Amino acid sequence: MEHSKKYRSIFSPTTGEDRRRNFENYWGFTTRHGGELLEEDRDLTEKRARLGYFKDNPVRSRQPLYEPLAFYRNYKKLTDPLEALDRKTLLLTCIYKFARHEWVGIQAAWDVIPAMAKTKNLTQRISRIHLAEEFCHARLFNEMFRTFHLDAVEWETLGWAQRWFYQFFARLPGELMNAPAFVTELMGLTFYHHLENAFDAILADEPEARDRLRELLHEIMVDELAHVGQRRNFIGPIGIRFARLIVRPMYHLFFRDLPESKLLFDLDAMIAEGLAFDYNGVRPALLKRSWVPSYCRAR
Ligand SMILES: [Fe+2]
Ligand SMILES: [Fe+2]
Repeated sequence: MEHSKKYRSIFSPTTGEDRRRNFENYWGFTTRHGGELLEEDRDLTEKRARLGYFKDNPVRSRQPLYEPLAFYRNYKKLTDPLEALDRKTLLLTCIYKFARHEWVGIQAAWDVIPAMAKTKNLTQRISRIHLAEEFCHARLFNEMFRTFHLDAVEWETLGWAQRWFYQFFARLPGELMNAPAFVTELMGLTFYHHLENAFDAILADEPEARDRLRELLHEIMVDELAHVGQRRNFIGPIGIRFARLIVRPMYHLFFRDLPESKLLFDLDAMIAEGLAFDYNGVRPALLKRSWVPSYCRAR
């Protein structure tokens, strides 16, 4: 029942003053959560320590992929017919393609926004830390591949048109960029939620590797949950209506570039989840480590 829900829609209305207070509150959260920024390395001390734990306590799948070469042939660009690939390979190439888009997008943004010493206000400082967290995610994705004995994954940039798009996007003024940037975070979070379900469906015969992938994914999801609220907090009353309108086209546009997703995920269900997102369905253990804007909590 509506009145018994703990959280409210991510699209809930708010005021400028509320958003200002939420940015201050987020800043306290993000500095505790990630630790110190290591700008040269595009890393954070707490995140580095977590990655160190995964590296020091490796888990490897019982069996390597059925045909590892099929992964390497298809992970950057699909070359085999989709139907010729087994579901584990599809899952891993799909993860790579998703993560690679993010990686190229954050590289473009990292070069545009001011370094921490040159930031002029709180939101710029928040954005610098945000991007460092995203770089940490690429490292966690790498651990997913290593869990399946895929040690030779390369992070290669995208083609010029897509790179240009991300560079263009990173330079847009806030009024234009805030809504799509928020929807991108929302899309990431709903994708990860569906990805977690796919782990259960596809990796049942690899319980240790599946659990490790879930642990790595949760590490990412705790950040992404916070990013969704943080990016929502950039948006005023008109922008949030615009954001809702572009959810569907943005999901379609993005997943068109991930052909594997057609066989693995229900795009309409992901879109519906994005539009209805309100934190109530998120695991409490993840929410406890993350951040929710005050106006998304039931009063
Ligand atoms: Fe991300
Ligand atoms: Fe994010």
